[in-house]
Amino acid sequence: MDAKNLAVRIARAPSGLPQRSDFVLVEEPMPVPAEGEVLFRAIYMSLDPSMRRKLPGPEGAPVPLGGTQQIGDLMIAGVPPPARGYMGGLVGQVVESRHADFVQGDLVQGGCWWQTFQSVPGHSLEKLAPGTSLSEALGLLGQHGFVAWCGMRNIGAARPGETVVVSAAGGAIGMIAGQLAKADGARVIGIASGDKVQYVVDELGFDACIDRHAEDVRVALDRLCPDGIDVYFDNVGGDVMLAAYDRMTDFGRIVICGMASEYNAVELPFGASLRPVLRKRLRIEGFVVYDHYEDQFADFQAEMRALIAAGKMKYRIEVIDGFEHAPDALARLLEGRNKGKMIVQLGSDPTD
Ligand SMILES: NC(=O)c1ccc[n+]([C@@H]2O[C@H](COP(=O)([O-])OP(=O)(O)OC[C@H]3O[C@@H](n4cnc5c(N)ncnc54)[C@H](OP(=O)(O)O)[C@@H]3O)[C@@H](O)[C@H]2O)c1
Repeated sequence: MDAKNLAVRIARAPSGLPQRSDFVLVEEPMPVPAEGEVLFRAIYMSLDPSMRRKLPGPEGAPVPLGGTQQIGDLMIAGVPPPARGYMGGLVGQVVESRHADFVQGDLVQGGCWWQTFQSVPGHSLEKLAPGTSLSEALGLLGQHGFVAWCGMRNIGAARPGETVVVSAAGGAIGMIAGQLAKADGARVIGIASGDKVQYVVDELGFDACIDRHAEDVRVALDRLCPDGIDVYFDNVGGDVMLAAYDRMTDFGRIVICGMASEYNAVELPFGASLRPVLRKRLRIEGFVVYDHYEDQFADFQAEMRALIAAGKMKYRIEVIDGFEHAPDALARLLEGRNKGKMIVQLGSDPTD
């Protein structure tokens, strides 16, 4: 095989927004699969804000400001084996199999590093269902769709006529969370920036969207949610979350999905009083999608496929070309300059 095995390693601990120079593009030896392993070629990789959270922090920084990865490590995409394939952040094609369940050419999901060729235990890969596009496997029908679905179905549980607010509404998870709430008959208000503001209203059918850079989010929420917020789906934490928190209705539900505003933080944010949680009988609940795969992934896929077939679920993907552009793209994603779900293309897609 004459293809190169490119990979990205961590060159230094970023301070604030990651820079290209925090990473180094290297060529690694081609892995040789051991008995029970499968060598696959990565075709697409999901870019996720949480990748920032795992990077090393400044020397001596408390854990929330520094992740578990070390300088010199390969960048992680998803959760490494032995986690199941759907927790990996890559889709690809089998090159060589030493595992009975896989043959050369199978399309798979799994892996875990920013690396073109990976040899992993076969039990940590999933075969893609026939007819699933590779990009869908990383978006609508994959982890991001499932995150949105878990948050909305298990915690948000929007009812017809309720007001739902979704932050990072034009992002990978927010796009889907808002459309699920619309499908449930709720009134949905997004919070986003850039051209995503128009997109979620015009293309995804949200009732309105606040541009968090162009207007005061608190004033806009007062205008758009005069009777308060029944469900707040939080992807960002920080000031945006506090603005929504102050406007919750009695028995409101806050879905704590992510804290994107904090991932570049160099100081810990300060909190807010939780007294309204008691007074308003709020439910504030965090969740981690990995807890729900075994029980709910099949239900999610069935519902999502039906919504897609009924034309009730749209999705926007921004494709980045190659690892060399991935660090800059990660920084753009963290700043909100993405145009929907970001994926990195690492090789030709045989399903195109
Ligand atoms: N709970 C789970 O199991 C789970 C699993 C995967 C991911 N997550 C989390 O889910 C969240 C959404 O993930 P995603 O992949 O869909 O990312 P995303 O929404 O595509 O990207 C993050 C977005 O957050 C917004 N943002 C960034 N900094 C902000 C700030 N200071 N204040 C307000 N908004 C800010 C930006 O959007 P705008 O500029 O458009 O507002 C940015 O594009 C992330 O926090 C992620 O870590 C949770």
